[in-house]
Amino acid sequence: MANRILIPWGMPEIGRQALGKKAEAIFLHGPRGENPSPGDLAETLRNSDVLIPRGNQTISRKLMMINPGLLGIANFGVGYNNIDVASATELGIPVTNTPGVLTETTADLAWALLMATARWIPQAHLYTLSGQWKSAGRKTFFGLDIGPGGSNRPKVLGVVGFGRIGQAVARRSRGFRMRVIAYDPPIRTLIEKMKGVSYRELDDLLRESDFISIHTPLTPETRHIIKERELQLMKPTAILINTSRGPAVDEKALLKALKQKRIAAAGLDVFEKEPKLTSGLTKLDNVVLLPHIGSETLDTRGQMAVLAVKNALAMLQGKRPKNIVNPEVFDSPEYQRKFT
Ligand code: DGY
Repeated sequence: MANRILIPWGMPEIGRQALGKKAEAIFLHGPRGENPSPGDLAETLRNSDVLIPRGNQTISRKLMMINPGLLGIANFGVGYNNIDVASATELGIPVTNTPGVLTETTADLAWALLMATARWIPQAHLYTLSGQWKSAGRKTFFGLDIGPGGSNRPKVLGVVGFGRIGQAVARRSRGFRMRVIAYDPPIRTLIEKMKGVSYRELDDLLRESDFISIHTPLTPETRHIIKERELQLMKPTAILINTSRGPAVDEKALLKALKQKRIAAAGLDVFEKEPKLTSGLTKLDNVVLLPHIGSETLDTRGQMAVLAVKNALAMLQGKRPKNIVNPEVFDSPEYQRKFT
């Protein structure tokens, strides 16, 4: 009977508890939860029934083909661009993700980045720590208003990708009396019916926004959705925030725009080739850079682990998992036959 769940990273304790004795858990990671080598992962996957990878583990067709009996892949993360889902579908492997539980936490971080970037918080913090602040005078940190400011002009928040997280980011703008505009072609009609937000084509959104926050999944359509041309449309006072996926932005083009002060600043939690950053990015004074911590609170990461475990257990038992990305696989007679 299928019973083995492979977890090749340091899963939070609450996820391990959710697993309990309901399955045989194979934990494969370094002492600080580090990922195993690709070779070790492949070798262990050969004798596993369900895999729970995390976002920084690439699950390729070649890897999946190692185990033709694999019953499912339960990704730890809402984004699943680390998995070759088209191949998983062809190979008859259901894939699940962890939406919902990380929405608010990721929206919090997008706002933290927006505010830190607009008001130079990290730079001012470092300056305060440095002891350079003397009574004779100090360095200035003239930021940009997030609320209406002294001139009482409400600012425009442009949200690119208006799914759960994009909407949660928009909700947070109410306290700042912002005007929200959004771009998300597949749900345009839905957005047009929503209160407190106006739909815009991408170019118009870029021209009008004071702050642009990206919340698209990574797909061929959204890869480099922001590149040289789009950056040129932005206001010179605009700030770009990205907490979705690095490749949504052409990092080299962004570096150039920031260097030339064609836009005011950028707050980035995600990068094109994590953990590598485009050379020159860390030398800029108009960026705030974070190491992909959007959903990283103890509570949320714990709930993501619990959800991934529930999805994995369901697939092990032939039950329909809650968050299935390619339902056609699960519903196919070929897959269902594995449980008869
Ligand atoms: C996600 O869930 O996709 C976040 O980026 C965390 O990895």
